[in-house]
Amino acid sequence: MILILLGPPGSGKGTQAKRLSSERKWPHLSTGDMLRSAISAGSKTGLEAKSYIDQGTLVPDSVVINLIAERMSAPDCKNGFILDGFPRNISQAEALQKMLTSQKLDIDHVVLFVISDQALIERLSGRRTCSSCSTMYHLQGAPSKTPGICDQCGSPLIQRSDDQTDVVRKRLSVYAKETEPLIAYYRDKGKLSQIDATQPPANVSEQLSRVLK
Ligand code: AP5
Repeated sequence: MILILLGPPGSGKGTQAKRLSSERKWPHLSTGDMLRSAISAGSKTGLEAKSYIDQGTLVPDSVVINLIAERMSAPDCKNGFILDGFPRNISQAEALQKMLTSQKLDIDHVVLFVISDQALIERLSGRRTCSSCSTMYHLQGAPSKTPGICDQCGSPLIQRSDDQTDVVRKRLSVYAKETEPLIAYYRDKGKLSQIDATQPPANVSEQLSRVLK
């Protein structure tokens, strides 16, 4: 199964990818998580990516394509994987297609998460993430039992630097310009399904399962 989760920032791609990955044992490949790990590790890739992420713009294609190519070649990806946050523009989609074709593989489904900008801004401004294990919370929708502390590992919760309102607005405009053209690209290839991402997480999971049947 090669599945792409496509949708704007905050639409719930990461939440659903984590659920699906734990239920079905498909590796979850998130370029955002990979870049944030590279930043935490202080690597050359992380240093290069940080200013783009902090401004809400896309990291150069060459950087993310290399990251994803290396991850896709790992043994645990041989039976498929979930792509979350990649591809993010037409040139990344074309690079992905080339990589898959060279391995005689193809995309099974592209699932578009549909939600309004106003709901996205509310979700992202309330999102908190564990600084250690990356478990996600929301101040109103999914709070931790003790404010500011992760239920899973007891580490402090942080707000992502790119979840400040002005950066969120920039990310939404980058999505509209760079990523939305992928909707027509995958629809034309007959791969696209869409789900209502405004529903509660369990309901979104059900919609996703129906698409994958
Ligand atoms: P990335 O980390 O990929 O961020 P994103 O795509 O902007 O998506 P998010 O992680 O913000 O949101 P999500 O859709 O996963 O929602 P989530 O489940 O977290 O990218 C960050 C940056 O890295 C980019 O801006 C760019 O600079 C760079 N980058 C990454 N990939 C790149 C690429 N391919 N090319 C170039 N640059 C790249 O949920 C959000 C919140 O809502 C949470 O609090 C959650 O609890 C809550 N929530 C989730 N689902 C629901 C629900 N159904 N109902 C209510 N609340 C919900």
